[in-house]
Amino acid sequence: MPPAILLVVSLLLLHLHDTAHADCEPATCGDLTVKYPFWLGSVNQSSSPCGHPAFQVRCSNNGSGASLMGSSINVLRVDYDSNSFIASHSRIVGGNDGVCRSDFNISVSIALSPFKFSSRNRALCFLYNCSGTEPRGAEYVNATSVCNSPIYAYLGGNYYWDSPPAIATGRCKYTFFPVLESEEAATMTAANYPRLLKDGFILEWQTVSVGDCPACVASGGQCRYNDATAAFECLCPDGKLAAASTCAGETIPFPSPTCSPHVWTRPDGQIGCI
Ligand SMILES: *[C@@H]1O[C@H](CO)[C@@H](O)[C@H](O)[C@H]1NC(C)=O
Ligand SMILES: *[C@@H]1O[C@H](CO)[C@@H](O)[C@H](O)[C@H]1NC(C)=O
Ligand SMILES: *[C@@H]1O[C@H](CO)[C@@H](O)[C@H](O)[C@H]1NC(C)=O
Ligand SMILES: *[C@@H]1O[C@H](CO)[C@@H](O)[C@H](O)[C@H]1NC(C)=O
Ligand SMILES: *[C@@H]1O[C@H](CO)[C@@H](O)[C@H](O)[C@H]1NC(C)=O
Repeated sequence: MPPAILLVVSLLLLHLHDTAHADCEPATCGDLTVKYPFWLGSVNQSSSPCGHPAFQVRCSNNGSGASLMGSSINVLRVDYDSNSFIASHSRIVGGNDGVCRSDFNISVSIALSPFKFSSRNRALCFLYNCSGTEPRGAEYVNATSVCNSPIYAYLGGNYYWDSPPAIATGRCKYTFFPVLESEEAATMTAANYPRLLKDGFILEWQTVSVGDCPACVASGGQCRYNDATAAFECLCPDGKLAAASTCAGETIPFPSPTCSPHVWTRPDGQIGCI
């Protein structure tokens, strides 16, 4: 196709795509409010002006909830103020025998995403295929009852995706999962592993990957994501895009809590973020 025609076709497609989601209003999936940087997508849809591609949420029509891009990662609750959300992995939450399917590395699902495991997660370890070498002790809980082969649970300290808790493991195979640290100490036991798996874990995202949406909204704008440039955009009430994170004509208190130390004085004397 000649470049000029290609350009026209691309622009047309872009336009169709844009108008289909022009408003980007917050949507709901069950109890979940889906808004920037998350957006409600569907099968075969890989991008949207309403949010970053990795933040696509698909809502199942059978009530089983919201998943990230149709993956095994479920989105349970989002805390937009702290850039974090509670997630769970569908392979280990379903039914009562999820623990029997825990022989995989969950950080593979997150490694290539813009998400990071929060330091507020604890590590829940599972030992299996021990061939009689399983460590004994009250902290090693026999979780075999619903599985076909023996498996033992151990609740470790903080979860670090690249470093398993240093515990005795015999010659067992070993996996470890992030679980939400609860304020109720009584629930934080290895014996409570079914509940801990179901309650999920915390993932966080960085403002740098999706832009400073709160600052844009505070200046009267709406948050958008430009997939072509892989950049955040702040759409202002006049229908134009803001040059920075916030709509022009607005001032940000100095020193700005949202953009310090990246503050600059614009030619018109107002303070902006870079
Ligand atoms: C998604 O794409 C596939 C293959 O291109 C097609 O068969 C299917 O009908 C599409 N699904 C929807 C919901 O559009
Ligand atoms: C609901 O749909 C999802 C896929 O959208 C599927 O994986 C899951 O098994 C379904 N759950 C039920 C209870 O039918
Ligand atoms: C789990 O996956 C991560 C990310 O791919 C990798 O860095 C890590 O080494 C894996 N851990 C194990 C125990 O295989
Ligand atoms: C556990 O060991 C059995 C044989 O001892 C083997 O068939 C099975 O694949 C092993 N499971 C895993 C997850 O390695
Ligand atoms: C763990 O429990 C299973 C049955 O649920 C039992 O067969 C096995 O012997 C137990 N393992 C240990 C080390 O007690």
